[in-house]
Parts: sequence; C-alpha cells; structure tokens
Amino acid sequence: MATSRTIAITGANSGIGLRAAAQLAAAGHTVLALCRDAERSSIAISAATGNAQNVRIVQTDLSSPTSIRRAADEMKAYGALDALINNAAIFDLSQKTAAFTAEGNELFWATNHLGPFELTARLSPLLAAAPQPRIVFIASKGLITMPWLQIRFDQLNSATGYSPTKAYYQAKLAQVMTATSLAERVPSNVGVSCIRVPAVKLDSARLAAQPALLRALYAPKNAAAATPETLAATYVRAATRSTPQDGVYIDENDHAVPIPRSARDGAARERLWALSEHAAGDVEWAW
Ligand SMILES: NC(=O)c1ccc[n+]([C@@H]2O[C@H](COP(=O)([O-])OP(=O)(O)OC[C@H]3O[C@@H](n4cnc5c(N)ncnc54)[C@H](OP(=O)(O)O)[C@@H]3O)[C@@H](O)[C@H]2O)c1
Repeated sequence: MATSRTIAITGANSGIGLRAAAQLAAAGHTVLALCRDAERSSIAISAATGNAQNVRIVQTDLSSPTSIRRAADEMKAYGALDALINNAAIFDLSQKTAAFTAEGNELFWATNHLGPFELTARLSPLLAAAPQPRIVFIASKGLITMPWLQIRFDQLNSATGYSPTKAYYQAKLAQVMTATSLAERVPSNVGVSCIRVPAVKLDSARLAAQPALLRALYAPKNAAAATPETLAATYVRAATRSTPQDGVYIDENDHAVPIPRSARDGAARERLWALSEHAAGDVEWAW
C-alpha cells in the first residue's frame, strides 16, 4: 500500500480529532476533515497543523442526513478512501430535556450513532475502492460501568424519562455493535475497529462551555485523564495499520478488550442494523 493515504475524520476541529488530523497531516496523509462549521474548523486546524496544505475541510453535520449525503457526494471526487475515523460526538451531559432533529431523531442518537452509520455506508464504495481500507468507530470506556446496558429500541426517540448520560452511552454501545456487525460483513482486506476511549482531557474551550457544576465535577477527572494526543496516536495506528488487528474492540494501546454483552447479542445487532439502515434511507453498502 502507498504510504500516503487519504483519510477522513469527523469532528477534526477539536479534542482528539484535531490532534489526530494534525498527526495524520504531519505524516503526509491527505486528511479530509469532516466538520460542521467550516470557518471555525479551518481556524483551529490551520493553527494545529501549521497551515498544512494536505488537509481539506468537508462541511458535514453528523446530525443531518442531508448534510451527510452532500458530504459523501463531494468526497466522490477523491475516487478512493483509505480510512474513515468516526470520531465526532456530542456529550453535553447538562442537557436536561431531549432535543430532536428535523427527522424526529433524538439528537445524541442522531449525531453519535445514526450519523456515523449513514456516513460509513455512503462512503463504503469509496472505501471499497482502496486496497486495504480501515474503518474506525469510537466508543467509551465508561460502558464498563453499565454491563447490562441495552439499546432501548422502543424508546429511542422518546422524550419521556430522558437522560443525556443514557442517551450518550446507548449511542456508544451502538458503535461497538455496529463495528462488530460490520466486521462480519466485510472481506478480509477491510479492517474494522472500535476504540474504547478512556477519560481524555477536554479542550479548555469545551470545558469552559459547561455549566459551573459540571466544570467542577469534570476538574478532577480532567486532571487525571489521558492527553488527546495519546488517543490521537491510537486513532492513527488504527487507521493506517497494514494488517488488520486481532480484535474489533480495542483499548488505547491497541489491545483487544471484551465487547459489551449487548454487542454479543446477534439478534440485537441485526435489529440495530436494520433500524439504522432504514434511518439512512435504505442506503446500499459496498459490502
Ligand atoms: N474526552 C473523553 O473523556 C472521552 C471519553 C470517552 C469517549 N470519548 C469520545 O471521543 C471522541 C472525541 O471526543 P473529544 O474528547 O475529542 O471531544 P470534543 O473535543 O468535544 O470533540 C468532539 C467533536 O465532535 C464534533 N461534533 C459534535 N457534533 C457534531 C455534529 N453534529 N456534526 C459534526 N461534528 C460534530 C465537535 O465539533 P464542534 O466543535 O462543532 O462541536 C468536535 O469536533 C467522541 O466520540 C467521544 O464520545 C471521549
């Protein structure tokens, strides 16, 4: 495989995604930075990469199927895509009531699960055109504290009993489930992984935007957390490795870790796949 690859990463304007974009650009790869605010992202990415010329911003709002479809169409110009890193997510745990997209999907579910699913499906023909494509999903180590968590299929878009924490972790569980299912569908040259991200320091602007109580709660966690650069390096290894790794679900050191109970439930995974595919307009995958 050529050493210089074309790699797309969502949420490349802050936190881990920004550091991963910078590391990939510094290694000479062409980086497609999929961000919802092109102007704000351009400033952040230029600063982090020293104005690198091998980074292109593709305006993409993961909560909007229309935006995802436009971005995927725009990216056809690249012919082939060596890797996709589904990094973007929202996790504002101060959100008291459920918000919904124009399509009627709960916002955390839409942004953190349906968006990555549809983006991956729509980019699958481009990925299939690369010799050794790599697809990376992002979950959270916090899932360990909820071993019994399941996708609440009948309440996904309900405002009743809303909890941002549940909404967030349900979508993260869906990342592990989707990666597990996709890994079973793809041919052997395609590598699929899901990174179990531990606590990582948040960017100061992200932290400052939180209410005072959450800032105070985050402070000790943030002090002890891993650096975004460390996790960015994990992303880069997952997106550029020349041989598929051992397990689908890996930690920050690339070691396979046990997948959550729900992700081992084949029927739940099939139900999730069907529901997600339908939300994505019954998109056709390359595999
Ligand atoms: N930090 C942690 O402790 C931790 C722990 C476990 C897992 N994770 C996971 O790690 C990943 C990166 O998190 P981070 O710590 O780097 O957080 P971050 O700095 O808040 O980055 C999140 C990124 O997602 C983007 N994003 C949010 N909504 C979007 C949308 N609708 N469309 C497109 N982009 C959108 C944000 O863009 P805007 O600037 O436009 O909002 C931002 O670039 C996430 O998947 C997160 O769930 C993080």
